[in-house]
Amino acid sequence: MKSIIKQKFSVSYQYDIHFTSGLFTLENRLLSRFFAERLDGPVPKLLVAVDEGVARCHPTLVDQIRDYLNPEPAVQLVSDILVVPGGEAIKNHREHVDRIIEAVDRYGIDRHSYIMAIGGGAVLDAIGYATAVAHRGIRHLRVPTTVLSQNDSGMGVKNGINYRGKKNFVGTFSPPVAVFNDNRFLLTLDDRAWASGISEAVKVALIKDAAFFDWIEAHAGSLRRRDGEVMDELIFRCAELHLQHIAGADPFEFGSSRPLDFGHWSAHKLEQLSGFEVLHGEAVAIGIALDTVYSAIVGLLPPQDAQRVLSVLQALELPIFHPLLGGAAADHPLLAGLEEFREHLGGRLTIMLLSAIGRGVEVHELEAENVLRAAAALQEGVHLVN
Ligand SMILES: NC(=O)c1ccc[n+]([C@@H]2O[C@H](COP(=O)([O-])OP(=O)(O)OC[C@H]3O[C@@H](n4cnc5c(N)ncnc54)[C@H](O)[C@@H]3O)[C@@H](O)[C@H]2O)c1
Ligand SMILES: [Zn+2]
Repeated sequence: MKSIIKQKFSVSYQYDIHFTSGLFTLENRLLSRFFAERLDGPVPKLLVAVDEGVARCHPTLVDQIRDYLNPEPAVQLVSDILVVPGGEAIKNHREHVDRIIEAVDRYGIDRHSYIMAIGGGAVLDAIGYATAVAHRGIRHLRVPTTVLSQNDSGMGVKNGINYRGKKNFVGTFSPPVAVFNDNRFLLTLDDRAWASGISEAVKVALIKDAAFFDWIEAHAGSLRRRDGEVMDELIFRCAELHLQHIAGADPFEFGSSRPLDFGHWSAHKLEQLSGFEVLHGEAVAIGIALDTVYSAIVGLLPPQDAQRVLSVLQALELPIFHPLLGGAAADHPLLAGLEEFREHLGGRLTIMLLSAIGRGVEVHELEAENVLRAAAALQEGVHLVN
C-alpha cells in the first residue's frame, strides 16, 4: 500500500503602500486609478468602515467618500458607510466584528468585493479580521489614520481582536490588497497619539538601522513640534523597514522569532493592566526602555547606548515607566506578562534585546531578577551613566 503523498505549494503576495495627501479630494485620482486598473470582470462592490474618532474629527469625510466614489465606474460603493468604535473598544467586543460580517451578508459582499477600513490600528485590526474570515477572505483595503498605523500596523500582515482582555488572542495572518497612507489624517491627532506612534519607528531603528536612529535623535525636536514633512519622512522610512522585514523573514511567524516585537512583551501586559488607558505606542516606548535597560544590565549593550535610547524617548516626550509596572517580586506584573507572552508566542520563548544601537539580538530567557532591576531603575529614574 502506498502510504504518503507529499504536498507543497507557496502563495505569493503583492501589495502597494501609497503615500498621498487628501485621498478623497476629487482632484486626487489615486483611488480612481486603483479601481480602474484592477477592474477585471463585473464591477466589484466596496464596503467602507470608518473609525468613529476619525469621523468625529473629519465631519465631512463620509460625504467626501460618497462624492468621490459614487461616480466611479470601476467600483460600486455600498451606500451604507459603517461608522465603528475607535481604539481598543472595537477589539474588546466581538459584536463589532459580527456587525461587519452581517453587512457582508446583507449587502452581498463577495470574495471579489472590497472592504475598506479607515482608522487607527485598532480599527484596521478588527475590520481586517472580519474581512479575513467572512467568505474566508474578502479583498481588504487599509487607510491608516494614525502615525502608528501608517508606519507599522497598516502595512503588516496581521489582524486580530482581544479575548478576555488578552491582546490579539484571536486573529489571522492576511495581507491587504493595498494601503493608502494619507498624511492629512494626522493633523487631527492629539499630541499623545502623534507622539506614541513614533515609538514603533524608534523600535525598528534600534533593531535594524543605526542611521535611522541617529536621524530620529537629530529630528526629535521637529517631531515633537509636529513638523509634517519630518513626520512624512519618518513614516516612509519606518514603513519601508517594516515591509523589508516582513518580506525577508517569516511573514506568517511560523518560527518563534518576532524581532518586530522588540519592547512588546511588557507593552501588551501594561496595556491590559491599564484597561487600555495607556496607548499601544506609549506602552511600546516603556517596553523599549525596559528591554534596553535590561540589555545594559546583563552586559549586552554599553550603558552609554542605553542612556542615549532613554534620552531620545524622553526628547520625544514618550514615557519610559508606568507605576503599574511596579510591585512586589512575588507576584510582579512583568513576570506574569512574560509568561503570557511565552504562551502567546508558543514554542521556544524568543525575545529581542539590543547589542548595539541598530543591532538586535535574540535571547531565549529573561532573568526575572534583572527584569525587576531594570523596572526599578526606570521607576527610580536612575541614570545609567554619570
Ligand atoms: N496588526 C499589527 O501588526 C499591529 C501592529 C502594531 C499595533 N497594532 C494595534 O494597533 C492598535 C493601536 O493603534 P493606534 O495607535 O493607531 O491607535 P488606535 O487605533 O487605538 O486609535 C486611538 C484613538 O485615535 C482615534 N483616531 C484614529 N485616527 C484619528 C485621527 N486621524 N484623528 C483623530 N483621532 C483619531 C481613534 O478613534 C482612537 O480613539 C493596537 O490595538 C495595537 O495592538 C497592530
Ligand atoms: Zn506595536
